[in-house]
Amino acid sequence: MKVLGIETSCDETAVAVYDGEQGLMANRVWSQIELHRPHGGVVPELASREHVERLLPMIEGCLADAGIEPQAIDGIAYTAGPGLIGALLVGATVGAGLAAAWGLPAIPVHHMEAHLLAPLLEDDRPAFPFVALLVSGGHTMLVEVAGIGRYRILGQTLDDAAGEAFDKTAKMLGLPYPGGPQLALLAGNGRADRFAFPRPMLGRQGLEFSFSGLKTAVALKARELRGDGVLSESVRVELANSFQEAVVDTLVGKSRQALQATGLSRLVVAGGVGANRRLRERLRSELTATGCSVYYPRNEYCTDNGAMIALAGSLRFPATLPAGPPVVCARARWDLEELGQP
Ligand code: KG4
Ligand code: ZN
Repeated sequence: MKVLGIETSCDETAVAVYDGEQGLMANRVWSQIELHRPHGGVVPELASREHVERLLPMIEGCLADAGIEPQAIDGIAYTAGPGLIGALLVGATVGAGLAAAWGLPAIPVHHMEAHLLAPLLEDDRPAFPFVALLVSGGHTMLVEVAGIGRYRILGQTLDDAAGEAFDKTAKMLGLPYPGGPQLALLAGNGRADRFAFPRPMLGRQGLEFSFSGLKTAVALKARELRGDGVLSESVRVELANSFQEAVVDTLVGKSRQALQATGLSRLVVAGGVGANRRLRERLRSELTATGCSVYYPRNEYCTDNGAMIALAGSLRFPATLPAGPPVVCARARWDLEELGQP
């Protein structure tokens, strides 16, 4: 069974073809970074227009990469939410429209479900049940995953998402958009203990996160050190590193607590911040020492991509399809726990 996957929830236009037996057959991502960089962040209307321009040629290209005609496709999966509503509507309309034209089912996919299933694209696949640490620009949560569609949110952020904190702190340090990966690069191998920033919520029971206080602490320290001048390169490196270490400490600590609380021994890390090298190193070394296994998708499946949408669509196909003709379904907000089993 072959599923075409379409992702347009934010600033990546992405398309892929996934086959239940052969695995991933084609995978294209068009990043809109250059388009949004002059604005210092994603401009929703620009994102939607770019999706409109790019999507159909990318679908054609992806089918050509896979060496198949539309007749070989069994279903079309598209991201239905959560995300930017205008951007989602582009993928949903194109997905449902092509499905109607080609006489195929359309499969609305939850973006965060796709992120947490992304490690199943790899050869070293985690078995259910596992705990998922979902860390992206819009979400930070720990989820107990008993199986497909069987999700219990253990805790999530009360304010900023981890990626959002990375992006805002990076902006404050004068780094170009998108800040997260830039800040991680700047941090490099500098000292991580120069500034003692708070580890939000780490000392407390419960699996909630909070990152806005940490972001403010870095801003205040930067302002104090800057005075009337500019921050030296070495201070910027140390600020970046101390910030990154505080986020990583928090994510590692809460992940450990979640594994203990559920009695599970597998952790899946997904979402854009899952590409962070320091987070990967620390999770691997500290969790394997306690007998747990950590699973990451490769970086290109951590950040937004069509492969995870096609995979999630194929795992839900055809059981949970809405009856009748393909529907255009787009939801800016969509609780992961609302999903049922396929
Ligand atoms: O999952 P994703 O591609 O899009 C959303 O659904 O949000 O995640 C993007 C987020 C951004 O905030 C970006 O700055 C962050 O992931 N990110 C990183 C790294 N790579 C991406 N944050 C820290 N270190 C990285 N290496
Ligand atoms: Zn995402």
